[in-house]
Amino acid sequence: MLLETRNLGKSFGGLLALDEFHLQVPEEALYGLIGPNGAGKTTVFNLLSGFVAPTVGKIFFNGREITGWAPERITRLGIARTFQNIRLFEDLSVLDNVLVGFHCRRRASWWQAALRFPGYLREERDYSTRGRALLEEVGLADAAGDKAGQLPYGHQRRLEIARALATGPRLLLLDEPAAGLNPHETRELMDFLRDIHREHRLTILVIEHNLRLVMGLCEHIAVLDHGLTLAAGPPREIRHDPAVIKAYLGRGEMER
Ligand SMILES: Nc1ncnc2c1ncn2[C@@H]1O[C@H](COP(=O)(O)OP(=O)(O)O)[C@@H](O)[C@H]1O
Ligand SMILES: [Mg+2]
Repeated sequence: MLLETRNLGKSFGGLLALDEFHLQVPEEALYGLIGPNGAGKTTVFNLLSGFVAPTVGKIFFNGREITGWAPERITRLGIARTFQNIRLFEDLSVLDNVLVGFHCRRRASWWQAALRFPGYLREERDYSTRGRALLEEVGLADAAGDKAGQLPYGHQRRLEIARALATGPRLLLLDEPAAGLNPHETRELMDFLRDIHREHRLTILVIEHNLRLVMGLCEHIAVLDHGLTLAAGPPREIRHDPAVIKAYLGRGEMER
């Protein structure tokens, strides 16, 4: 397993946002995490990426325990994420947003940067070339010089993914990447995720409300409701699981 959680739990005051969460994500899997609003999905990502410390339980990445690690350290180890509400540096250029991603692996120290040492400048040029290649890959090459905040919404989502890829992850956490996209953009996103999964030999854990996207993309799915795991397994089992149908029933979401 590339990622594993054991008995992971998080409470906020009296509210149990996540309870007894056991996740096992194999290397290079496309894994979906679904559930109604408030189920605890984003909390899982906050725990995995070190933004929030668990109340109980353990997190293992590539066989190593990372519980309680700081976000920067987790990023350097190879876990990158995007956010449910897009978080970009809106006033920076599209290219600069991607360069921020490379920053976590920078070798030159601050004083080499200040003195513009050759090694620093070489690293800068290298990042710029690789940043442009990443933008090419996500279809944003023509927008490299534009302000990130002025991109159309769907492109901002792609830029956020490009920035995550720039950190050189093995595991990519995507929090509702199709939110706000129209059906055409959503299909494009699915193809795009399949492409980067293959090209970068990534493991992807995706939270998504669009069940068609998750069922079509993922070979494993876990279902959360009120912090509890209702079911975990391949899409064909999840689709027919009585507890899952009950949680979604009346919300019309199974049909989407
Ligand atoms: N930082 C926080 N402080 C207090 N409550 C939180 C915090 N983060 C999440 N919650 C609560 O935990 C529950 C799960 O939230 P969340 O993980 O965002 O759900 P989901 O992403 O599945 O919609 C919700 O009731 C939410 O209000
Ligand atoms: Mg959420």
